[in-house]
Amino acid sequence: MARVLVLPGDGIGPEVTAEAVAVLRQLAPDVQLEERLIGGCAIDAEGAPLSDATVARAKDCGLVLLGAVGGPKWDKLPPNLRPERGLLRIRKELGLYANLRPATVFKALADASPLRRECVEGVDLVVVRELTGGIYYGEPRGRDDQPGLRRARNTEVYDEREVARIARTAFRLAQDRKRLVTNIHKANVLEVSAFWNEIVEEIAPEFPDVRLEHQLVDSAAMVLLRDAPKFDVLLCPNLFGDILSDEAAMITGSLGMLPSASLGDAGRGLFEPIHGSAPDIAGQDKANPLAAILSVAMLLESGLGRPKDAARVRRAVELTIDAGYRTGDLGRGPGQTLLGTRAMGAKVREALG
Ligand code: IPM
Ligand code: MG
Repeated sequence: MARVLVLPGDGIGPEVTAEAVAVLRQLAPDVQLEERLIGGCAIDAEGAPLSDATVARAKDCGLVLLGAVGGPKWDKLPPNLRPERGLLRIRKELGLYANLRPATVFKALADASPLRRECVEGVDLVVVRELTGGIYYGEPRGRDDQPGLRRARNTEVYDEREVARIARTAFRLAQDRKRLVTNIHKANVLEVSAFWNEIVEEIAPEFPDVRLEHQLVDSAAMVLLRDAPKFDVLLCPNLFGDILSDEAAMITGSLGMLPSASLGDAGRGLFEPIHGSAPDIAGQDKANPLAAILSVAMLLESGLGRPKDAARVRRAVELTIDAGYRTGDLGRGPGQTLLGTRAMGAKVREALG
């Protein structure tokens, strides 16, 4: 029987995760759920942002539904004790090297974008971010003080296996979409980037039906603002993917709408909304639960192999939006109804039938 470990985390994490779990229970009552701590709350209760016991449970379940981690309370802790380290550790421990971050514009929400409607209408892209390598994990790292001169460093490292597998993820995904992979790099300056490109080029012939383009990361940041609808799959190393996925998310105007999946081999996966813990509105029943609910759709599809149920969830979210229901982050126009977190979750479950 399928088991999912639920890690609500900090800030608005528990509120949005509760709504996501309710959707999952309604659609898949056979799936066993179990809950544990991650992030700041785990630091407070267990002395570390991710305990060994939780790692063991996560490996056992294989599938994780996560809320968000972090908050001002833990911002002053030393780097290895910060809530974010919990997230980095669970990705690494489960081998979740492929992070899929779709950015799509819901028609009814196109006016919520900070960009003009014509720059965002039709945006349907996925950032494929390498998630367990690169500068976020490379050694040597940390303070490297010299006599009389304070210094710090991080290291960007990739080996050919790491690049090849994430490249294949991107190409495979593109095959079911618009068949374009845009590889994001900074090869005009970084050797590791030139190496990354070389491996991606070697993999490309395995997918003759997919077009491969290369784009410098700085220029990609610009094109995302000017002409995002042209993109399909953006293949990114860890750091570039982190940055561009926030940009891509924002141009859709609905950070609170976007889910993500982090996948590894052997059916392992972690599913989470891409928004953070939003401590400023935590505990006030204001957060938008739709990204968490759409993360359940990704869990159903990629984790549990139930694409039909995933489609039902997406449809229910769309119906709810089309019916004019909005949480505060989405901006409210005439004839639309402002709802809190719980009421929004209830509307989606109602639409699920
Ligand atoms: C993300 C976040 C994390 C990351 C942080 C919280 C460690 O920004 O998932 O994009 O950088 O990967
Ligand atoms: Mg990020």
